[in-house]
Amino acid sequence: MAKIAIIGFGVVGSGVYEVIKTNFESIAEKAGENVDIKYILDIRDFSSHPDSHMFVDNFDVILNDDEVSVVVETIGGLEPGYTYTKKALARGKHVVTSNKELVATYGDELLQLAKDNSVNYLFEASVGGGIPIIRPLNQCLTANEINKIVGILNGTTNYILTKMIKEGMDFETVLKDAQEKGYAERNPAADVEGHDACRKICILASLASGKYVDYTKVSTEGITNISLEDVSYASKMDSVIKLLGYCSFEGEQFDIKVCPMIISNEHPLSHVDDVFNGILVQGNAIGDAVFYGRGAGKLPTASAVVADVIDAVKHIDKNKWIMWKKTSDEVIKDIGECATKMFVRVGAKEANAEIEKVFGKVTFVSLTENETAFVTESMKENDINEKLNSLPCKVISKIRVLAD
Ligand code: HSE
Repeated sequence: MAKIAIIGFGVVGSGVYEVIKTNFESIAEKAGENVDIKYILDIRDFSSHPDSHMFVDNFDVILNDDEVSVVVETIGGLEPGYTYTKKALARGKHVVTSNKELVATYGDELLQLAKDNSVNYLFEASVGGGIPIIRPLNQCLTANEINKIVGILNGTTNYILTKMIKEGMDFETVLKDAQEKGYAERNPAADVEGHDACRKICILASLASGKYVDYTKVSTEGITNISLEDVSYASKMDSVIKLLGYCSFEGEQFDIKVCPMIISNEHPLSHVDDVFNGILVQGNAIGDAVFYGRGAGKLPTASAVVADVIDAVKHIDKNKWIMWKKTSDEVIKDIGECATKMFVRVGAKEANAEIEKVFGKVTFVSLTENETAFVTESMKENDINEKLNSLPCKVISKIRVLAD
């Protein structure tokens, strides 16, 4: 019988409890033994909970109990999760987590610590909620050189964009709704400013390349500047606007960024709506593979956590090879040196001739009389910005266009 401890009884932690209770027998069959929750660590009062005897408020109780072989870290944030994870791994306990901030920040160190102690640090739930993506990248696709990963990686912002676009709901109302549904981060700025998606694309990029990608250095934009006019322009272009995590591994350095992008309705990610996430991985043998499912929420995320618990129990004496390392090379390409097509709106009527004079060939998109909108050819962002600065009119908005 495997004994586990859950640390942090919030949305995901309570979901893990629920999934283990509900699917106890099928989980036991798959794990090869019963998986029992022995402790739940939370400083709040759960004395009226039906399993109140499980609750403890001191991590040392879990750490010092040799019967506990797997610790589920669902606290979120860096501390105390980081300290508890290090102590648990060093003590020979497997750790399973949904904590993307911790994995993105200290993944290299924690994976090494797990290896040194012949245990596992597993984090399927840290990216894409319930969607299998970490294991596919780390196992099923390892025969490939990964060329590119593009993903809708934040359920909250995708939910907000979908409700605003399809139902005309206002930003604040949809955000509140997403919070009530347990999708949003404690501080929703992490969602709407793109930081959560950034941590996730960095985890995927680190996993695919074996090199630590520092999320604090990645160009990150959220959805707060997207207007309904921008959405209408995208629609005119037979496209939609999605918040994407993007990483191209071609060349010496990675073209990695998080930003709203205009994507054609023919692109598989264009139809990923609501809280769903979609991740396209392009490998040199498989071509494109797309992963789709619920990217946030209690039970979808718990589904991925519990799958990792089962995996840990099945590999109780064996470290599974998952690793990335810090390198002295600068792995991230300067965003100004990365090429993209750019959709631009300027506050001038019929400025077509001036625009073509500066940019050469562009594609114009007409929607309103008082402005001129166009899509550039693919060029370096530094060049786009320089050309825009030389135009004698105000830029209303600019949004990158996904090439393919
Ligand atoms: N706030 C996150 C999201 C939760 O909306 O995607 C899942 O990581």
